[in-house]
Amino acid sequence: TLVLGIEGTAWNLSAAVVNEDEVVCEVTHTYKPATGGIHPREAAQHHAQFAFWVISNLFDEIAEKNISPGDIDAISFSQGPGLGACLRTVATAARALSLSLEIPLVGVNHCVAHVEIGRWKTPAKDPVVLYASGANTQVLAYRRGKYRVFGETLDIGVGNALDKFARSGHLSHPGGPQIEMYAKDSVNYVNLPYVVKGMDFSFSGLSTAATDALQKHTLEDVCYSLQENAFAMLVEVTERALAHTGKNEVLLGGGVGANMRLREMLDIMCDDRGASFYVPEKRFMGDNGAMIAWLGLLMYKAGDTIRVEDSHVNPNYRPDMVDVTWLKE
Ligand code: ATP
Ligand code: FE2
Repeated sequence: TLVLGIEGTAWNLSAAVVNEDEVVCEVTHTYKPATGGIHPREAAQHHAQFAFWVISNLFDEIAEKNISPGDIDAISFSQGPGLGACLRTVATAARALSLSLEIPLVGVNHCVAHVEIGRWKTPAKDPVVLYASGANTQVLAYRRGKYRVFGETLDIGVGNALDKFARSGHLSHPGGPQIEMYAKDSVNYVNLPYVVKGMDFSFSGLSTAATDALQKHTLEDVCYSLQENAFAMLVEVTERALAHTGKNEVLLGGGVGANMRLREMLDIMCDDRGASFYVPEKRFMGDNGAMIAWLGLLMYKAGDTIRVEDSHVNPNYRPDMVDVTWLKE
């Protein structure tokens, strides 16, 4: 089975072809804002402008492996969550491919795709998943037919909180890697808010407080303290989800998962609890076309396809709205 998947919920436009065994080819083109953060309309224009480029390059690459577009069994795309304008652009490209190649269309939930690529590319079987990216931050786990959201951000994603702080400290975008670098040279912990409410977390106040703290403390110390607090909040909720569900695996996903301090803290927590900790290869942690193609393949094989006329996007598509048709209990 061969499935072509397209991701474009935010700044990464990425398309891939996968089969049951491997990612056959992947082509990505990334929107880079001239200044500041992501401008949704510009990002959508970028995706519209480069959709043809990405798909035709992908077709050239599969041709080198003696695969023709006619060999592809289904087209999948990110139906949400994400920026409305970006989602609509990618959906249009996916529908056009589905109609012209006369093959089924599969609508994929972006968050669930992060989970499934992690389950594919690591030994994790039934993990508690910490999905920590720019716009999304959720703790997920499978229970009775759905990936349930055990905890999530009440405001912005942890990555966006890091990026927002970084801009105020005049660091280049994206801020996460810069903050990680400066944090290594810190000598003092600075007191910052720690906000976990029930099983949910909030990052907006923490980001603002870190910006304010720059008036009195060094950039290094604030970067370090911001990381410690934000990541401790993530680890606390992940640990409680483990305890609550009785599961014994943790899987990390999302672009913030590149952070070595976050990995270290999760690793220590898992060690203490006798749980296994899994991190996929970096290319499968941030947004990527392969994860959309892979979940598309799982859903296609389960008969979980949609008609073009029912293929609307949903910027607020939650993972717990998806029936996990491809897993047998
Ligand atoms: P999504 O739609 O999944 O929210 P996104 O485009 O915001 O997508 P990703 O590619 O998953 O996200 O992640 C980007 C985020 O990851 C940025 O906020 C960036 O600062 C953060 N990030 C990248 N590397 C690191 C790092 N080493 N430490 C902390 N944060 C990082
Ligand atoms: Fe993502």
